[in-house]
Amino acid sequence: MIQFKNISKRFGGKTIINQFSLNIEAGELVVFIGPSGCGKTTLLKMINKLVQPSSGQIFVNGSDISKVNPIELRRNIGYVIQNTGLFPHMTIQENVELIPKLKGEDSQVIESKTKELLQIVGLDPQEYLDRYPKELSGGQQQRVGVARAFSTDSDIILMDEPFSALDPVTRTSLQDELYLMQKELNKTIIFVTHDMDEAIKIADKICILKDGNILQYDTPENILKNPADDFVADFIGKRRIWNNPELMTVEDFMITNPIKITARRNVLQAIEIMKEYKVDSLMVTNKQNKLIGLITLKGIQLLNRNSIVADVMEKNILSVTEDANLISVLATMNEHRIGYLPVVNFENQLIGLITRSSILSALSSQLIDMEVAF
Ligand SMILES: Nc1ncnc2c1ncn2[C@@H]1O[C@H](COP(=O)(O)OP(=O)(O)OP(=O)(O)O)[C@@H](O)[C@H]1O
Ligand SMILES: [Mg+2]
Repeated sequence: MIQFKNISKRFGGKTIINQFSLNIEAGELVVFIGPSGCGKTTLLKMINKLVQPSSGQIFVNGSDISKVNPIELRRNIGYVIQNTGLFPHMTIQENVELIPKLKGEDSQVIESKTKELLQIVGLDPQEYLDRYPKELSGGQQQRVGVARAFSTDSDIILMDEPFSALDPVTRTSLQDELYLMQKELNKTIIFVTHDMDEAIKIADKICILKDGNILQYDTPENILKNPADDFVADFIGKRRIWNNPELMTVEDFMITNPIKITARRNVLQAIEIMKEYKVDSLMVTNKQNKLIGLITLKGIQLLNRNSIVADVMEKNILSVTEDANLISVLATMNEHRIGYLPVVNFENQLIGLITRSSILSALSSQLIDMEVAF
């Protein structure tokens, strides 16, 4: 959808962006984050030709934009600029409707859409439509900027720190709105921010920039789990995963070699295996390694030692898949009052086991990392 190809930018003699290449897929929300002055705004402005690259190419929908008329290009790209950029001599309504009107859309349709968008960003249309930007607070102006970007019906929206002047409550609600709107309307959005929490919350992918170079471009989850280098690790802070337990998935804290037994063994053998490995339960699997049951020491120790595992095992067992997150696993364990959960793949083959202590040790290793970092 948007492709930067070997883009460099020099201002005076100074190289701000150096051989920057990046692919943004349609329908993705990509966040640019990095220290002040690293070139985020410059990159954004190159997409709608407000800034020309010194070298390299940018493709939007497959077209090299150096060959596209800038006015035409900008009509199809929504843009929320840093510091709002509302036209001071136009009312809020005129500001929001500017581009749709230029495009010659039906004025009734435009007006009802404007009202809807103002509602979405939390401004009562009755009250605000006829006001001028200077009669609004900075945060309210930013919200109008967001509404205006969405009014264009364009597939691409560029947002340069759109929520920076908002109070935390409004900011959180607009982040939620943006996330939902983007998923629903399937827009491609590039969003610049300084706030890592904001990035984690809304991004499909985060692009971490420094001095015009990409340090890492990946999903929030992968960046949190595997920061590319020390700068990224410092930038995200080691404690992020703690703040985002939903990003910890089963594969981060499962035991990958659970002790198991086949169904044709007997109780005596099962007890021996438990003693040997110092465990109090065994997963029962068949030849294809599919999970078919579970036995616990408590459940079998009073039984005849010759009983066959297949006859005494519990067959109705809960399991989880590798991509389940910590929150849902803990909820399942608490709800069913169980201390362990087998992990299976989509073919019900046993691939791991979660126990309370495996969760605890995964969390404490994160804690130790954190103490080293601070
Ligand atoms: N028109 C210009 N002429 C000269 N230098 C410029 C111009 N525009 C930007 N720069 C320089 O390019 C660098 C990148 O600027 P840019 O605005 O892209 O940074 P940014 O990452 O958006 O920063 P911030 O987070 O503070 O908004 C800065 O050092 C800035 O001073
Ligand atoms: Mg900027």
